[in-house]
Amino acid sequence: MVESQGNAWLTVRAMRLADLDEVMLIERRSFSAPWEESTFRGLMRRPSAALLVAEVDDTLLGYSVMWFAADEGELGDIAVVPERRGEGIGRTLLLESIAVAASRGTRSLYLEVRESNHGARRLYEKAGFSVVGVRKQYYNEPVEDAIVMKLDVHAEVR
Ligand SMILES: CC(C)(COP(=O)(O)OP(=O)(O)OC[C@H]1O[C@@H](n2cnc3c(N)ncnc32)[C@H](O)[C@@H]1OP(=O)(O)O)[C@@H](O)C(=O)NCCC(=O)NCCS
Repeated sequence: MVESQGNAWLTVRAMRLADLDEVMLIERRSFSAPWEESTFRGLMRRPSAALLVAEVDDTLLGYSVMWFAADEGELGDIAVVPERRGEGIGRTLLLESIAVAASRGTRSLYLEVRESNHGARRLYEKAGFSVVGVRKQYYNEPVEDAIVMKLDVHAEVR
């Protein structure tokens, strides 16, 4: 895996099974309806998925999950350990994820985000995503609309 863009101190690499304990700790602290560990395991077995982690000195600080079909991709999950938010780790993970999507031939990368998650929406907007739709009452715990965002993955990063 390539070294991260933007944060020389941070390494971004493919997620391994040995990372799952740390990933699950962050997942449970980040979402009101966290994914099960089995979801991560299942995706790790799929060649059409890409799971990345960001780490410093063997400490896992964040991760992202994507899957691909033809020339479309979905960013299904991204999170940073709460104590280390606001340091550019999420941006680095997102940019690396986009680079991986590009290398898989992705032209359109989609994601859903809670309407009230302004921090994440800002992160995505800064990376070039734009709003393309709303899924009404998409989320539970609490019930909330999802904003659908899309990035046109440019040829220059493919
Ligand atoms: C969303 C998340 C991954 C961002 O990670 P992060 O490492 O804190 O983000 P960064 O420090 O890289 O921030 C990058 C940019 O995103 C925006 N941003 C991130 N968090 C923000 C916040 N709380 N409020 C406003 N803007 C925010 C800013 O524009 C920031 O750029 P700037 O610092 O130049 O202003 C992190 O907050 C997180 O894990 N949240 C909980 C899980 C989650 O909501 N995931 C997204 C699900 S769709």
